Amino acid sequence: MDGNGRWAKAHHLPRVAGHRAGAQAVRRTVESAIRHGVGWLTLYAFSSENWRRSPGEVLDLTGLLRAYLRSEVRELRSQGVRLRFIGERSRFDGDIVTHLDEAERETAGNTRLNLTLALSYGARAEIATAARTAARLVAEGALRPEDIDESCFGDLLFTAGMPDPDLIIRTSGEQRLSNFLLWQSAYAELLFLDVLWPDFGPEHFAGALAEFAHRERRFGARPGD
Ligand code: FPP
Repeated sequence: MDGNGRWAKAHHLPRVAGHRAGAQAVRRTVESAIRHGVGWLTLYAFSSENWRRSPGEVLDLTGLLRAYLRSEVRELRSQGVRLRFIGERSRFDGDIVTHLDEAERETAGNTRLNLTLALSYGARAEIATAARTAARLVAEGALRPEDIDESCFGDLLFTAGMPDPDLIIRTSGEQRLSNFLLWQSAYAELLFLDVLWPDFGPEHFAGALAEFAHRERRFGARPGD
C-alpha cells in the first residue's frame, strides 16, 4: 500500500492525511475482496523499517491502526471476516497488542474472507527467526536436520497454515517487493500499478483480477507438462 505520502503532497496536505485516506482505501479494498469472493487478502500496513520514520509519523500510523481496530473489528466480524496479523506485534504498545489478540480470537470462526494485516513485518527477519527456531529444535533433539524441508520450514513462518499469495499488487509505480513475503511469493504474479494507494478503488481491484486471469502460470513447468 504505497503512495500515501505522495498523495498527501499532491493535495497540499500533511502526510497524516495521506495515511487517513489510505485507511479509507483499506476499507474499500476489503469490501471489494468480499464482493469478488476473494478468500485471502494480505495488506502490508507497517513494515519493520517503518519504525525508522519520524516519531510523529510513527505515532500517526500507530494511532490510525488503533482507531481502525477499535472501529472496524465488530463490523468485519459480522461480515464473516477472519483477521490475522503477521509481524513482530510485541513492538506495538500493550493496548494495541491486546486489540490484535482479541481481534484474532473473536474472528477465528469466520471463513468468508481471511484478512491478514502485516504489521511490523519484514520478510528477512521472519526467515531468520524461523531458521533460529529450527536450529533450536535440532539442538534440543526435537527435529532432525534431514526433516527440514520446504513444508516444515514454512510451518515456522508467521504465515504457517496460510496459502502462498497468487497475486501481489504494489501501488504507486515502485517496482520492488520491499521485504514483503519473500519466501511465500516464490511463484506469485506481480502487478505494479501507477495509482497511489489512497486512490486505489474498486475499479483497480477488478482490473487487477482481470489482469491476473490472463496470466499463464506454469510454476516452473514447461507448457504441456
Ligand atoms: C506507504 O506510503 C504506506 C505506509 C507506510 C502505511 C500504510 C498505512 C495505511 C494504508 C493506513 C493505515 C492502515 C490501517 C490498516 C489502518 P508512504 O508513506 O511510504 O508513501 P510515499 O512513498 O508516497 O511517501
